This record gives sequence, C-alpha cells and structure tokens, in this order.
Amino acid sequence: MASGQQFDSDCITLTRFVLAEQKKCPSATGDLSQLLNSLQTAVKVVSCAVRKAGITQLFGTVGETNVQGEEVKKLDILANELFINMLTSSYTTAILVSEENEQIIQIETEKQGKYIVCFDPLDGSSNIDCLVSIGSIFAIYRKDSDTPPCVQDVLQPGRKLVAAGYALYGSATMMVLSTGNGVNGFMLDPSVGEFILTEPNMTVPKKGKIYSLNEGYQYIWDDAIKEYVQAKKDPSKGKPYGARYVGSMVADVHRTIKYGGIFLYPATSASPKGKLRLLYECIPMAYLMEQAGGSASNGKIPILDIIPEGIHQRSPIFLGSKDDVDEVLSYIKKYT
Ligand code: AHG
Ligand code: MN
Ligand code: MN
Repeated sequence: MASGQQFDSDCITLTRFVLAEQKKCPSATGDLSQLLNSLQTAVKVVSCAVRKAGITQLFGTVGETNVQGEEVKKLDILANELFINMLTSSYTTAILVSEENEQIIQIETEKQGKYIVCFDPLDGSSNIDCLVSIGSIFAIYRKDSDTPPCVQDVLQPGRKLVAAGYALYGSATMMVLSTGNGVNGFMLDPSVGEFILTEPNMTVPKKGKIYSLNEGYQYIWDDAIKEYVQAKKDPSKGKPYGARYVGSMVADVHRTIKYGGIFLYPATSASPKGKLRLLYECIPMAYLMEQAGGSASNGKIPILDIIPEGIHQRSPIFLGSKDDVDEVLSYIKKYT
C-alpha cells in the first residue's frame, strides 16, 4: 500500500496473522486462534468502554476492595467480566486466573478446553479517572495434566508459556502479542473495528536512556537500588538518563520496548516481595521483553525461571534493555 493511501485491501489483521501462524504448525487445532479471538473481543469492548467512561458513569469505585486489598473501580469489574465471559464461551480454556478473583476460575466441563489464561483485566486502575493510559495483560499456558482443573495446573514457570500479550488503551489502542516467535504490535482501527499489524517484529534497543520507577519510595529502597538510581542521574557517571513513570505497567513496559531503557518495581522494606504480581503482570511482560530481545529479572534469576507458588504471588521486577538490566543486576550483586 502506498503511504498516505487510506485503505489497504490486503492489510494484515490480528485474526489473519494468528491464522497464518497456526497454519505454520500442522498439528495446531485452531483452539489458540479461537482463544485469541475471544480476547480480541474483550479488549475491543474494554477499549470502547475506556473511551466512553466519562459519559457512561464508568469512572469511580464500586466501594469494595479486591484480594490485594486495593480499591476496585467500575472499569476493573466490567473488564474482568468481559475477559471471563469471552474466554469461558470460547470453549478453549480450563482455568482462568484473574487479579480480581481470589480463587482460580474453573471452567464448567462442557465448555472446557486445554488452555489456562492468567490476566490483569485492567492495569493501571489509579489512572482511569484522569485519562492516563491503562491496559490489560494476559498470559496463556497449556494445561499439562488430565486431572480436573486445579491450582497446581496454573503454577507453571513463564518458560512454559504458549503466548502472552497486552492491550494498551493509550492515545490509540494497541495489542502487542507473542506466541513465542517474536513480538508483533497491532493498532486498533476504530473505523473498521480490527487490529491491524503496524509494528512487525518489535525489538527493544540493547541499551536505553530512560529509567522508570516510582521514586517516591526511595526512602524504603535497598542501598543497591538507591545507588543505581543515583548513578543514572549523576553526570560524572555518564550522560544522565531521563525519568519517565506513568504508573500503569502496560504503558511503562510499552514505552520501554519502543524506546529502550529500564522499568523497575523493586522490593521495598514496606513490600519485601515488591508489588507486581507474578502470574498476570511480571511473567507475561518478562516473556514479551525476552521475545523482543530484552531481559527481565527479579534481581536474582530471570522472571521466566521462577516457579510460582501461589496465584497472587508478587515479585520484584527489573525489565527492559539487556545492558540496562545487566547494570542494575551488577549493583544488586555488589550488595549481596
Ligand atoms: P493494577 O491497576 O492492575 O492494580 O496495577 C497497578 C500497578 C501497575 O500498573 C503499576 O506499574 C504499579 O501498580 C504502580 O504502582 P505505584 O503506584 O506503587 O507506583
Ligand atoms: Mn496491574
Ligand atoms: Mn488490574
């Protein structure tokens, strides 16, 4: 298509892309394509709801706290119901894990398929009411036992992921996906209601110029993090980095993939395990980052090598450009 032309009669939609991937694998049944289609539907409706939230009374809280003790927003609930309903009715899943549900969701026998989906239906909830970018995150595993769905099925390391991705509801809506063969980005064209491949083979620069973390917690960081962040601002240690922090993991990770640099959510003395959740925040983002050529660590080992012990387990995380992650790890090592 010539640039500037309005219509591409041969555009690659997300559905078309996933189907082509499926055809490359002769044993594929089409279940993953069906699952991803149901996720697309959920994301399109969430995107629409986000855009209209201010005029459809979707701002604000429902007056409850979730399993993490956090305030639940109306959009959290809507997004969660959409993910659960679309995935359940796709006939491709056996177990769902949501940030908003304390227990695993076991899919009724007649609707069961072979996949497990862990998701954060609405990431960056504190940014909803001020119109700052928010997102959704998902991680897809295969259920590798024949037993009835149980928690143990879900506790798989990220190395076993079949696919992971996120949707970013930013100045435009985008879905970023990996099925283990690189990372691809699809922009939602609202006029046709389709995700179009606009960023094939996304790769993160080897080294960046941006550091991203909540600096308000400096007083409760470990000395290693204090020294690392100080070094990023010290002109005697090289050109100082720029600071960027949206406070929605999806937006901060997306920027890190695009521009390079590092995103950190370290442990603090107040939250010794960090804040972000392993199954539906850290692992899918680490998978995407590795697939894009970057890295992700909990400070000791790659995030993808952690064997989860609980569905809402938290983990410290350092992810982004390879050289930047290696650098923060060298500071952590110095103090251990
Ligand atoms: P969620 O809205 O799903 O609970 O996630 C919020 C997370 C994440 O998006 C972000 O990186 C982090 O919380 C921000 O935490 P701080 O406010 O502590 O910086
Ligand atoms: Mn989140
Ligand atoms: Mn959330």
